[in-house]
Amino acid sequence: MNRNFDRAAEDMGNIVNLGHVNFRIADQRLATAFYVTGLGLTRDPYMMSGTDNMWVNVGDSQFHLPTGPALYASVTLTGLVTPDLDALAERLAMVRGELAGTQFSFSRLDDCIEAVCPWGNRVRLHAPDESRFGLFRQNMGYVEFEIGRGAAAVIGRFYREVMGAGVDLHDGEARVSAGDHQHLVFREMEHPQPPCPEHHVQIYLADFSRPYRWLRERNLIASENNKHQYGFNRIVDVDTGSPVFILDHEVRSMRHPMFGRSLVNRNAGQTIRTYRAGQDALAWRKG
Ligand SMILES: [Fe+2]
Repeated sequence: MNRNFDRAAEDMGNIVNLGHVNFRIADQRLATAFYVTGLGLTRDPYMMSGTDNMWVNVGDSQFHLPTGPALYASVTLTGLVTPDLDALAERLAMVRGELAGTQFSFSRLDDCIEAVCPWGNRVRLHAPDESRFGLFRQNMGYVEFEIGRGAAAVIGRFYREVMGAGVDLHDGEARVSAGDHQHLVFREMEHPQPPCPEHHVQIYLADFSRPYRWLRERNLIASENNKHQYGFNRIVDVDTGSPVFILDHEVRSMRHPMFGRSLVNRNAGQTIRTYRAGQDALAWRKG
């Protein structure tokens, strides 16, 4: 029996789940056409069911989409795993008319489909791939940010030493482990777009208090929400304390009541024409 397992490949690091990405949408009807009808995702049936906000489930994660002016200086790029790229392309083609006159577009790249939401946020959709996305058939695999030359090592060190996260550094890119086959990706660019201060990401930590103490000592805590949650928005050089990137983090402990919440994911392949009894729920995670 081969007992030479790669034990390190199973390490999670301190960030155990990328819970949600939050940005405003100007119109819930258009957001529904893109995120639900087009991308095949599922509106949370239990929370934020009104017109002022909508939560959209993607496997084990969510988009949080409060209604409001979506006038951004920059946009967010998320990477999703989706069960079937061909079916996705058909659905996106179907919403083209409804989203005419917005920033909506989509195109097939080498290994994914890149879709642009009505307000310019980019979503890259990938087919399931166990080596890259683990057992997930639908999930939020990464959120990616553009950074300036030389910043990846500094940002990687912040996440490794302050947040306790697993970090891979290579080719001008810091890949921060943010859950089971989930990452925050910081990619060096010649002309990076500016950060998105109006957007935030939410992460769950196993060791909640050690990063808090480090950030608090340096006056970097931006919000004290409740006993399970705090916020910070500056990634800093660990040595000097000077900011290298702005990213609003909502940080939750694993005792937060929403940790491990069971999220409804529908099978977007169900239509009047193709309906199959018993197939309404998507088996979004294998095994
Ligand atoms: Fe949030």
